[in-house]
Amino acid sequence: MTKINPFKPNSPVPTAMFAGRINEVVALEKGLYQTKLGQPATILMTGDRGIGKSSLLLFLKAVAVGNIKSPEYENFDFLSIHIPVSDKLDIGTLLKLIERNISREIGKVESIRSFVANTWSFIQRIKVMDSGVSAAEVDSEVELQLDQFSYSLAETCKRIVKPERGENKKDGILFLFDECDNATPLLRIGYFFKTVTEALQRQGCDNVMFVVAGLPDTPEKLSISHESSVRIFTPLKITELSLADRIYVIDKGLEAGNKLNVEQTTISDAAKDQIAALSEGYPHFIQQFAYSAFDHNTDGEISLEDVFDSAFKLGGAIDAIGNSYYASAFNEKIKSDEYRQVLSIMAEKMNSWITKAQIRQSFTGDDSTLTNALQALTTRKIILKNPSKIGEYRLQQRGFALWIRLFGKRNRDKK
Ligand SMILES: Nc1ncnc2c1ncn2[C@@H]1O[C@H](COP(=O)(O)OP(=O)(O)OP(=O)(O)O)[C@@H](O)[C@H]1O
Ligand SMILES: [Mg+2]
Repeated sequence: MTKINPFKPNSPVPTAMFAGRINEVVALEKGLYQTKLGQPATILMTGDRGIGKSSLLLFLKAVAVGNIKSPEYENFDFLSIHIPVSDKLDIGTLLKLIERNISREIGKVESIRSFVANTWSFIQRIKVMDSGVSAAEVDSEVELQLDQFSYSLAETCKRIVKPERGENKKDGILFLFDECDNATPLLRIGYFFKTVTEALQRQGCDNVMFVVAGLPDTPEKLSISHESSVRIFTPLKITELSLADRIYVIDKGLEAGNKLNVEQTTISDAAKDQIAALSEGYPHFIQQFAYSAFDHNTDGEISLEDVFDSAFKLGGAIDAIGNSYYASAFNEKIKSDEYRQVLSIMAEKMNSWITKAQIRQSFTGDDSTLTNALQALTTRKIILKNPSKIGEYRLQQRGFALWIRLFGKRNRDKK
């Protein structure tokens, strides 16, 4: 009988399987509490691919709407609005999306329906700016739109925090903006946050919390449209899971699996430790190694051998990790084996800085090839050049470095 595999390498983790991140959860819950009391929190969550940003946002959402009780506080009851940012999103569409979410969430209540419709009616008049409009005209139109938007948001928030006609009282509004590294200049995302948070404050609306998440280059995306917008945020960096948390992720996953399946599965301590070590704390890697080992296992106990075989085999965990995140950067953007060799050498230091001289020691090609490789990899944004130290480079992401190391090991083991 095929068992249902509980591990989730390709989607944010369901709240029941969410593990660890105690400090981050405490910080976010504190933000909710303060926002409820009128000291609104504005948080910028950054971290590598697959480190667990979206999962943490989903967990926060569950706490905010009262589906999960925080051990510290009474149940929260926020209105929560989740916006995944894509590279197609412009500011007009963003405002419409928010309006639609608000109408959907609170427009259901009869007594508030006409209030919502009236307060947000300006949305129907948002113009599509065609190419004939001058930049100055676009700017002033956006300014007017944001002014109306902030007013409508403030009125809506005040109404649900202090309801007038027997509606349920809410704690405030929580905005979750995910994947903000996708933002293009058309979204004016930094300008949006700066303008809206200031306008809300002016209008005495103190119960709106913004959480903005994305890859580590998100701050740069914010500063394109407003240089100082990053300063309004409290930074929250998401890093690798501790060893204990990695084990907890595996235990929680298996526990969920054993609820779903009649046939039970266990795992040896050595197998767990190996998954924890291979993953280096990347939850995405833990889920994938555990998924593949669960899949590979036939006798009900996941052993060290199951972990190794399923990780390194063709089509195994490492291939899957590469296919979902890194293979295109490694194989398609880079056509030369020598360039790939440079990346492998750099990956030995994960994503720490390494000098050209250090790379040269292990590189088998000639000097001009190395120079060209470093230049091409920098231009393609696969590696970063140290702006304050000449001749130093590093890989952009630890996850990518880890994958190159494991992938290289797989290829060596195959030979
Ligand atoms: N706290 C956690 N407990 C268990 N599994 C987790 C946790 N956080 C993340 N994961 C798992 O790690 C993987 C990546 O998580 P997630 O999608 O949240 O990361 P991300 O940082 O949003 O990635 P991306 O940069 O690609 O958007 C998923 O498989 C998810 O199930
Ligand atoms: Mg994500």
